Amino acid sequence: MEKNIVLIGFMGTGKSSVGLKLSEKLKMKFVDMDREIEKVTGMSVSSLFRKFGEIRFRSEERLMAQKLSKQSNLVIATGGGVVLEDENIQQLRENGIMIWLQASPEDILARVNRKKGTRPLLKRDLKIEDIEDMLRAREHLYSCTNYRINTSNKDIYTIVNEIHKIIKQIETS
Ligand code: S3P
Repeated sequence: MEKNIVLIGFMGTGKSSVGLKLSEKLKMKFVDMDREIEKVTGMSVSSLFRKFGEIRFRSEERLMAQKLSKQSNLVIATGGGVVLEDENIQQLRENGIMIWLQASPEDILARVNRKKGTRPLLKRDLKIEDIEDMLRAREHLYSCTNYRINTSNKDIYTIVNEIHKIIKQIETS
């Protein structure tokens, strides 16, 4: 596989954990965009938001998308908002297969609640309706790919195998 595999999807859909396992299976390098941004800036994503605002974070995210699109053979876990900029989608798509990870709002709420305080766009007393609203607002952006996997009620190995199947199909088509 030459192309990158780019996992997109809302916060808490499993992009990072699935991406890591997938990269191990396919013997590809794993890159988590948010962690890379943290390395480059020397700050956590939440401090970036707090100190410099979302605009600064998005500009770091844009630079990272540009940089990673020029590389190949990577499994990339994006941040949930990478699709907000059309330019990011175009670039990541140029040299990558995009896969949209989906999950039910209930699962998303449970997963993000386990890591409270690490996602600056989510308020503290987050409700199911808030997640549904955000999902509704972003769904058309995640639809930039036809490859979709629902991660709710599935173990990580099943999800990784489903993605692997998609990749094999693409390679042989
Ligand atoms: C964001 C998602 C986060 C992170 C930032 C913004 C978003 O990544 O990039 O907090 O706009 O959806 P995860 O999807 O890994 O939580």
